[in-house]
Amino acid sequence: MNAIEIRGLSKSFHGIYALQDLNVTVPEGSIYGFIGENGSGKSTTQKLLCGLLVPSSGEIRLYDRHYTDAEIRSNMGVLIENPGCFPGSTVYDNLMMQALNIGVKHPKEEVNRVLKLVSMAGASGRKFKECSLGMKQRLGVAQALLGHPQLLILDEPINGLDADGMRIIRETLTEQNRKEGVTIMISSHILGELSKVATHYGIIRGGSLIREMPATAMSEECRDFVFTRTGDNEKAFAHLQTKYREVEKMDNGIRVYDENESANVSGFLYESKIAVSEIQFCKVGLEEYYLKVMSGNKEDK
Ligand SMILES: Nc1ncnc2c1ncn2[C@@H]1O[C@H](COP(=O)(O)OP(=O)(O)O)[C@@H](O)[C@H]1O
Ligand SMILES: [Mg+2]
Repeated sequence: MNAIEIRGLSKSFHGIYALQDLNVTVPEGSIYGFIGENGSGKSTTQKLLCGLLVPSSGEIRLYDRHYTDAEIRSNMGVLIENPGCFPGSTVYDNLMMQALNIGVKHPKEEVNRVLKLVSMAGASGRKFKECSLGMKQRLGVAQALLGHPQLLILDEPINGLDADGMRIIRETLTEQNRKEGVTIMISSHILGELSKVATHYGIIRGGSLIREMPATAMSEECRDFVFTRTGDNEKAFAHLQTKYREVEKMDNGIRVYDENESANVSGFLYESKIAVSEIQFCKVGLEEYYLKVMSGNKEDK
């Protein structure tokens, strides 16, 4: 089953569309990295999901029910933009107020549980206004985790954190996903931040989804390979297949994916007297891939 299904969703503010015909599918049990530049519509999408905004048109389903279903909604944990906290109250009191607000059972135990999850047990007595940005973000994640929600909607929770803060949030989310089966939709404008946790990706640009795929497919498209062009590409292709399993013939040459030393490929071709006119090791990193997808779609439009 899909945890989230968004179909043909549009949202306009004073006649200007922030989202246009958006389609998003978040499978149950996934960590869905929702990526897009600033202003692309991530927060708007997440606010619509949480019922903080009303759609102009389109449909949102959560676990195959209408998104306003009360039972489903009570199973969602949310952090959008900034945690809603009282500046003069402590970390502990802010969490307790939220726990009481949403009516969790055993609030004391629950507050202590989420504090531990985000490594903030030692800072529970600190006033919110005295917390660093990283602590505030972690507190926001802790708030979202109150009451063991099945579905987490997190809007840029890693934004602006230092390496340690990022690691804590990443580890918390991965653990919730693996151990408790929590489905997580997490947005960012930096792909690299999500690449260590996401199992699926959706790329949004100008209010529409331009790519959606499992992380495995993404890393497949971002693989390293040795590229070679030879005097006889047909012969070289056949010969390379006798040694390598993942050889692909392109218009202008050949790619060998299961080799990362170009010298091994040229040496192998040389043994069969195939002249190599060009050889290089190529790497398409995640970030580069993302930029390519983004710019490619700009030209299409
Ligand atoms: N309440 C609002 N009123 C008017 N325009 C808005 C409002 N919220 C968002 N927008 C516009 O919608 C677009 C998408 O914004 P947003 O969803 O916040 O993007 P992101 O979270 O990806 O940075 C932007 O152009 C933004 O200016
Ligand atoms: Mg945003």
